[in-house]
Amino acid sequence: MARKILITGGAGFIGSHVVRLFVNKYPDYQIYNLDALTYAGNLENLKDIDQAPNYHFIKADIVDAEVLNRLFEEHQFTDVIHLAAESHVDRSITDPLAFVRTNILGTVNLLNACRATWKGHFTDRLFYHISTDEVYGTLGETGLFEETTSYDPNSPYSASKAGSDHFVRAYGETYGLRYIVTNCSNNYGPNQFPEKLIPLFINNVRHNKPLPVYGDGKYTRDWLFVVDHALAIDLVFHKGKQGETYNIGGFNEWQNIDLIKVLIKQMDEKLGREPGTSEKLITYVTDRPGHDRRYAIDAGKINRELGWKPSVTFEEGLSQTIDWYLANEQWMNSVTSGDYQKYYQAMYASR
Ligand code: NAD
Ligand code: TYD
Repeated sequence: MARKILITGGAGFIGSHVVRLFVNKYPDYQIYNLDALTYAGNLENLKDIDQAPNYHFIKADIVDAEVLNRLFEEHQFTDVIHLAAESHVDRSITDPLAFVRTNILGTVNLLNACRATWKGHFTDRLFYHISTDEVYGTLGETGLFEETTSYDPNSPYSASKAGSDHFVRAYGETYGLRYIVTNCSNNYGPNQFPEKLIPLFINNVRHNKPLPVYGDGKYTRDWLFVVDHALAIDLVFHKGKQGETYNIGGFNEWQNIDLIKVLIKQMDEKLGREPGTSEKLITYVTDRPGHDRRYAIDAGKINRELGWKPSVTFEEGLSQTIDWYLANEQWMNSVTSGDYQKYYQAMYASR
């Protein structure tokens, strides 16, 4: 039977790269992008493929169980790749319940819809849950998150993602649903909403606006180019083993302040400014509460077992990302109009 894959959150940052990859690479699959089009979802992200015969868009909210059940009955999806989520830590600090609703309740609604409509198919259909390394909490100066590291989430965002991961596993153990979970490090690349560090700072450097660095700027993240995450998802979807977790990361740790200096260097060059000109924009601001000090991921398992590794260096990926934002000012203008201004005021006025 031809695959009918439901990809949730496909109008968002990572989801749009996954939808594009699957639509282009697998013309025999029918790809259903289900998205509520929140502030973070934007169909502009998919305008290059939205006329493809194997692409279908469904506007729906995963919090609405009735609608989900009806859609599963109607379309008989054969697999789910679940990316829809509230995804920004700072917003989770302001409004934790929004994260409980979408990330936990929404995920359980999807699992229930699979349970109800996949009878007799639990072993040949797949629920693939996309999660984050943030569920593991924070590291000291050494060590790496492994698949066996205990969950220890610190923010409402990571707690809600941890909760959803647990529900996916529980449905596997309890009802026999076939599932895989991947936990990935920080992504960057084209189409990322400018509330996250890299696109926010690209936009602010461009417009000579202050660069709000939280705390001492020595927080560490592992960064992965979004296209490499999409390629990993493709591989895991087709070759991953039932019930397994795979960590995905860039083998690419940066302290925020060092990353920001590389970003400034590349941007000053691309904008024809004197080297280092934009460093004066760096502004240390009040720290994020509960800020995780260091994330670092051991992506050895997916490398050894499935042969995946990142295809671009950080400098190449960052350069491509900056070029994309510089060439797509209209995209940036459209997502930063309206509510974004209010968000920005509220988030940064007090810092
Ligand atoms: P994003 O915020 O850019 O996009 C989320 C998408 O989900 C949007 O299109 C939004 O409209 C949709 N959505 C939100 N609530 C919904 C709901 N109730 N019903 C239906 N659709 C809804 O997020 P992203 O950065 O692309 O992240 C995608 C997934 O990957 C998330 O599950 C996130 O936890 C995970 N992840 C992200 C990163 C990262 O660095 N961005 C790293 C690891 C894992
Ligand atoms: P972010 O992109 O929000 O991802 P996450 O919190 O999920 O890792 O932030 C990445 C790092 O950058 C994190 O240590 C917080 C920091 N940061 C700032 O210093 N200033 C900012 O304005 C933002 C958005 C993030």
